[in-house]
Amino acid sequence: MSSIVIQRSVTFINGETPAKLTIKDIDLDKCYNDNEIVVKVHSAALNPVDLLVHHSANRHVVSSGLKTYGRDYAGIIVKKGRKVDPKFQVGDKINGQITHLYGEQGSVSNYLVVNPAQNASIGFMNDFGYLDFDIKTHYNEYDLNASYPLVFGTAYMVLFNNGQHWNTNSKILVHGASTAVSQCLIQIAKKHLNVGTVVGICNSKSFEYNKKAGFDHLIAYDEPEYLEKVQALVKDPFKGEKFDLIFDSVGTSQYFPIIDEILKPRNENSIYTTIAGNDKLKYEGGLLDYARRLPFSYYLNSFNPWRKFNYVLTMLGPKSEYMELASLMIHKKQFIPPLDSVYKLDDFQKALDKLNSNKAKGKVIIRIVDE
Ligand SMILES: NC(=O)c1ccc[n+]([C@@H]2O[C@H](COP(=O)([O-])OP(=O)(O)OC[C@H]3O[C@@H](n4cnc5c(N)ncnc54)[C@H](OP(=O)(O)O)[C@@H]3O)[C@@H](O)[C@H]2O)c1
Repeated sequence: MSSIVIQRSVTFINGETPAKLTIKDIDLDKCYNDNEIVVKVHSAALNPVDLLVHHSANRHVVSSGLKTYGRDYAGIIVKKGRKVDPKFQVGDKINGQITHLYGEQGSVSNYLVVNPAQNASIGFMNDFGYLDFDIKTHYNEYDLNASYPLVFGTAYMVLFNNGQHWNTNSKILVHGASTAVSQCLIQIAKKHLNVGTVVGICNSKSFEYNKKAGFDHLIAYDEPEYLEKVQALVKDPFKGEKFDLIFDSVGTSQYFPIIDEILKPRNENSIYTTIAGNDKLKYEGGLLDYARRLPFSYYLNSFNPWRKFNYVLTMLGPKSEYMELASLMIHKKQFIPPLDSVYKLDDFQKALDKLNSNKAKGKVIIRIVDE
């Protein structure tokens, strides 16, 4: 039987070329090496970083080859190299996120070649049987398993990577409560770490959404004097107790002038962390825009021994720990993946437009195998 199959992928060449559905033949017996597996991807999730890397692909700098969209995936192992960890077998249903920049391999493709040793954020698919009937009728098991690795992993890094200890007295302020990363963070904080108080800053129209997610207090960024409202919260209901962590998932510098009043002192192991820089990202601005939005003060804040507060830029890496924690929480029926919508592969542009709107409430999924 022939081992040639058609690979369908959403790709681009550089920032001046549009995303396209491209097709090529691949030989399933020859497209991987001894350390790799081939995954037949059933669903992939989009992330803002997909738009950022596409829009920042300068044609003078990047190659003229095709680069594939996507990091999160869920699917079935169809081929396995002889040196791959034996815990992975052909036929296994797996999920994960691959870390790549301008890679030929991306998850918005029906076949993905992954080296599990290099991409440790890989696990076996989980059973989401406990979710509401509505969610289960809308999203299949692959959609659900593709939805969370990158955003859950980022939330994990924010909470676990800075040596902070969490308990019922801890206080966290989340700027951008509605983002998919923050929706994971609130669930880990509340259901796994028993964090006492999590305050969310979001659009006034998103209050119901975030109340349901478990935020203790919500403040609207589109209403006047929201910073004063944060200060007032610390003064009165919190009786002067400041935050242990301020997490920015959108990109802002607005808290810096009042940081002393709302964040505990440095020597109490408090952290200010961002995953998006000090100014709101424009996805079409690309990674250069991202770098530009980390002003000199970032470097000063991060490395200056006399800095006033601990400033950390959190970057996701490929770790197995967050896949393990996600599986544990799913096993305990503690995690509801944030989901916005699901699109067929042929409708990938609608999915990209939804992501680009910056209004998605949860993950935008692309279903590659529609059974
Ligand atoms: N450093 C890393 O490793 C890393 C990893 C993952 C993501 N990121 C970055 O983190 C950011 C969040 O990613 P994501 O996938 O979680 O985002 P997302 O789910 O796509 O975020 C969409 C949400 O952002 C909220 N939002 C839009 N404008 C806002 C504003 N001005 N202030 C507060 N909230 C606003 C909207 O909710 P409202 O209705 O409340 O406005 C919307 O629902 C992106 O910039 C992404 O590139 C970085």
